[in-house]
Amino acid sequence: MSTDSPRSKSCTCIAPINIAVIKYWGKSDEDQIIPLNDSISLTLDTDYMYTKTTATISTELTKDSIVLNNEEASGDGVRFQNCLSEIRKLAASSKHASTVEKSKWKVAIVSQNNFPTKAGLASSASGYACLVFTLAQLFELESHKSELSALARRGSGSACRSLFGGFVQWFHDSQPCVARPIAEAEHWPQLRCLVAVVSNSSKAVGSTEGMSRSVKTSKLLEHRIKHVVRDRVEEMKMAILQKDFVKFAELTMQDSNQFHAICLDTYPPLFYMNSTSQAIIQLVHRYNEMRQNIKVAYTFDAGPNAVLFMEEAELNRFASVFHSFFGSIPHESFFRGKVPNPVDSTKDVETLGPDKALKGQVQYTIVCHVGQGPKNIDPTG
Ligand code: DP6
Repeated sequence: MSTDSPRSKSCTCIAPINIAVIKYWGKSDEDQIIPLNDSISLTLDTDYMYTKTTATISTELTKDSIVLNNEEASGDGVRFQNCLSEIRKLAASSKHASTVEKSKWKVAIVSQNNFPTKAGLASSASGYACLVFTLAQLFELESHKSELSALARRGSGSACRSLFGGFVQWFHDSQPCVARPIAEAEHWPQLRCLVAVVSNSSKAVGSTEGMSRSVKTSKLLEHRIKHVVRDRVEEMKMAILQKDFVKFAELTMQDSNQFHAICLDTYPPLFYMNSTSQAIIQLVHRYNEMRQNIKVAYTFDAGPNAVLFMEEAELNRFASVFHSFFGSIPHESFFRGKVPNPVDSTKDVETLGPDKALKGQVQYTIVCHVGQGPKNIDPTG
């Protein structure tokens, strides 16, 4: 419920996660969070995965506070404070006296991810996008889309892309440094995405620290920035605009592989993928070979979970194969979100060469499509 009184106001919004198909890895400015290269991402629908944030601003509050996933978090975290002070600055410069007044009020934030962050699914992108978007509703700054993207960036680089739905590019050299949509979610409605949650017990190095280490030590990252990523971004943009799945898939897999090669080239090295991730990569290539065309693509962020892309026409067949290889629970529990129709995959599994050792290596899978940006879910919003 949106509760408005002259001295306090609150609002609840949700924001999506996004998955990069051209990765952001490395900053030219760590404090401002300016990336070394452009990146491109797909915003995933909020049917299953999202961050939900309720923000309250009030004259009654004596300090800023934040509760994350039911735990009191430190409200003086640098990134949280950066986001907050920047949005207050924007509000203070408004031509509306009421917004200027509200910029002085303290805020209370309660934020919750509805997906298990312990499973290593990206949460900072949706988290900071939701924080900034929700505060913008309270300060009536919704129309400042570009500034909001820059503000979310100060929380976590990839968050600046979650302010938009569809297919999004983050520009490393724009002023201010922001993301902008390439195409709306409806542009390529056949695209589907499986997020495969891989069992993982080891704790990886976080993205922020990992990329800082890569910038200092990886010659391959230098090569990527100088000679690879600029052209790849242009090719990816074309593939998306033309809905050319084969090109999109090739570039997505190549870019994920280069990112993980950079991780290995980092000193000491960063191991984000595990043996299950590698088995998923091998299965995708074998599957594409069997289909005599590129039908499925994979990408991996700073963790072992796989994100797999395909078009709707391939979903039922690939999903059943994937379940046969990696699932140890029934089909309808293995897939969350919109469950694909099971098909008999005996022949495909025979062709691909069954591997019993992989069973149970993927805990479950979330089925998604490309979706919209953050939204206000207050009934009055
Ligand atoms: C591998 O945005 O989490 O997911 O800016 O330091 O908060 P910070 O890093 P973060 O890094 C994301 C890295 C990635 C690739 C991507 O999303 O582009």
